[in-house]
Parts: sequence; C-alpha cells; structure tokens
Amino acid sequence: MKLGLGTVRFGRDYGVGDRDRVPPPVVAEMLAHAAAHGVSVLDTAAEYGESEAVLGVALGESGGGDWRIVTKTPALCPEDGRSAARAAGRKLRDGLERSLARMRRSSVYGLLAHRPDDLRGPAGDDVFAAMRRCRDDGLVERIGVSVYSGDEADEFLGRFPFDLVQLPANVLDQREVGNGRLARLRRDGVEVHVRSVFLQGLLLLPIERIPPYFEPIRETLRGYREAATAAGLGAVEAAVQFAAARIEADCLIVGAGSVAEFAEIVAAFESPSVDFDYAPFAVSDTRFIDPGRWPAAA
Ligand SMILES: NC(=O)c1ccc[n+]([C@@H]2O[C@H](COP(=O)([O-])OP(=O)(O)OC[C@H]3O[C@@H](n4cnc5c(N)ncnc54)[C@H](OP(=O)(O)O)[C@@H]3O)[C@@H](O)[C@H]2O)c1
Repeated sequence: MKLGLGTVRFGRDYGVGDRDRVPPPVVAEMLAHAAAHGVSVLDTAAEYGESEAVLGVALGESGGGDWRIVTKTPALCPEDGRSAARAAGRKLRDGLERSLARMRRSSVYGLLAHRPDDLRGPAGDDVFAAMRRCRDDGLVERIGVSVYSGDEADEFLGRFPFDLVQLPANVLDQREVGNGRLARLRRDGVEVHVRSVFLQGLLLLPIERIPPYFEPIRETLRGYREAATAAGLGAVEAAVQFAAARIEADCLIVGAGSVAEFAEIVAAFESPSVDFDYAPFAVSDTRFIDPGRWPAAA
C-alpha cells in the first residue's frame, strides 16, 4: 500500500476540526515532504475550489516530479439526472480539459466520476464512453468512480469496466474488513484508493471537541482512543495502521492541514505496525460513518 495526499484543503475549507484552507506556501512544503518520502499520488477534483490551480503553480515551481494526479469530474447531470446524454459526455471532456489547464498538465494519472448519480442515470453509458475516449486520447491513464460504500463500488464496476475506484474506510467504518471485495477488485485489475481514514479528522479530535451530533458514538470513540493509548499507539498511528493492516488497497489518500500534520501521518505510515484489535470499534450506523449524511453544521 502506498500513501497519497488529498488536496481538498488546498482549495477550500474542509473537515470537522480546524478546517481552514492550506495557504500555497504550506502546500509547497507539504509537496516537498511528500516527494522526499516517496508519496506520489495526489487526489484532487474540479470541485475542490482552487486546489487544481494551486497544484498547477506549486508543481510547476517545484520543477515537475513523478506525480500521479487523480482528479474528478465536475457535476455532469442536473439533480434530476435527466440530462441529455451527449451533453454529459461533452461536459466531462470540457471539464477534464479545464482541469488539465488549471494543473498546467497535458495528462493525469486518474479521472474519477465524482458524483455516482452521474453514472446511475440515463447518461451513464455516455459518461463512461466519454471517460474511455479521454483514456484512448492519452489524457488519463485510469478511469473510475469515487463512491461512498463497497456496495456502490460493486454496482458501478459490475456495469462499467473501470480500472480505478475510491471509497472510504476507517476504524469506525469497517464495512470492507474481511469481506474479500477489495481483494477481488484488485485481482480483476482495479486500483483501489481508500480515503477518510481519519473520518475527516473526527478520529483525531480530542474527545471533548467531538461535535454534539456524534454524541451517540462518543463512548465508542473514547473507548477506541483509550485502547489505542493502552497499546502505545497515538491517534494518527492507530488510524493509519488500521487501514494498512485491515484494508486491501493500493493507496491510502490522507488529508492534512499543515506540514506537521502530514509529517506525523507519514511517520505513522512508516512505523512498525502494532497488533491491535479494532473490531470492537466498528460502527454500522451510516448517520455517523457516512459524511454525506452529516448535517452541514456537524
Ligand atoms: N467523494 C470523494 O471523492 C471524497 C470525499 C472526501 C475526501 N476525498 C479526498 O480525500 C482527502 C482526505 O479527506 P478525508 O475526508 O478523507 O479526510 P481524512 O484524511 O479522513 O482527515 C483529514 C483531516 O484529518 C486531520 N488531520 C490530519 N492529520 C492530522 C494530524 N497529524 N493531527 C491532527 N489532525 C490531523 C485534519 O483536520 P484538522 O486539521 O481539521 O484536524 C485533516 O483535514 C481529501 O483531501 C480528498 O482528496 C474525496
């Protein structure tokens, strides 16, 4: 498993903790730290505010480097999903070309459909065909979808021969532990990227700073943190080691708000793993493990 750097906070405020957007000089330092530790995957999106443009400047100034950038499509179909299929395919191509221009690149490593509903509706076949044309034209190496669960991954990979998928997993969201799904996808040639290993920072917040919305799982979080401490694991270490030990993935996409935060993640990823029973801390209630279901104020 490799480590990848998520860049939503390079372009806008994000997360449950300190949330603030990362200023460009700090972005440059984080990219230098990434390069120094063999972290080459960068996860961005057209809808991450200035993220792609900030990457374009920072990577240009750092003189290139062997970065594997994964970006994501803009919204392709109106909420009702009833978009003229051709329009969705055209929007996708235009969107990728604008993303490449912002990143000052002629191609990227991966393109993910950002909104699963864009593939679910009548335009799905045209969206997939447009993605495949982008790959055939050398604008992208791998095409896929970013989903909110393993079941969604099966839904789309059963319909479209994608070769890249991104999904969430963490100590609270253990839906993919032990079911063999991700191993099967990888055997079928699909590259698997996992995100939300800190559940947008919730798993790292001091217990007293956990927002009220999460009251029903506060004792689970407290128990997990106490058990991790008893095992000699810090919060970042425990969360990173869970993913490395229990999730079958090619890349772990992590977010950070500073060089210090990112350096701590890299150090945790490089440290020897400690045997720790994560099973008691799994939460099945998607109101808490699916950020898509969190109220905006959470
Ligand atoms: N649908 C999608 O495709 C989708 C959805 C979500 C995310 N993503 C991708 O995944 C990336 C990561 O986002 P995520 O939701 O998965 O976040 P995450 O990695 O689970 O958590 C990131 C947050 O954890 C906190 N953190 C990180 N290192 C820390 C440290 N050493 N000490 C204390 N706090 C620390 C930071 O928040 P504080 O500084 O606020 O504490 C940071 O913003 C995004 O940048 C994006 O690229 C994609």
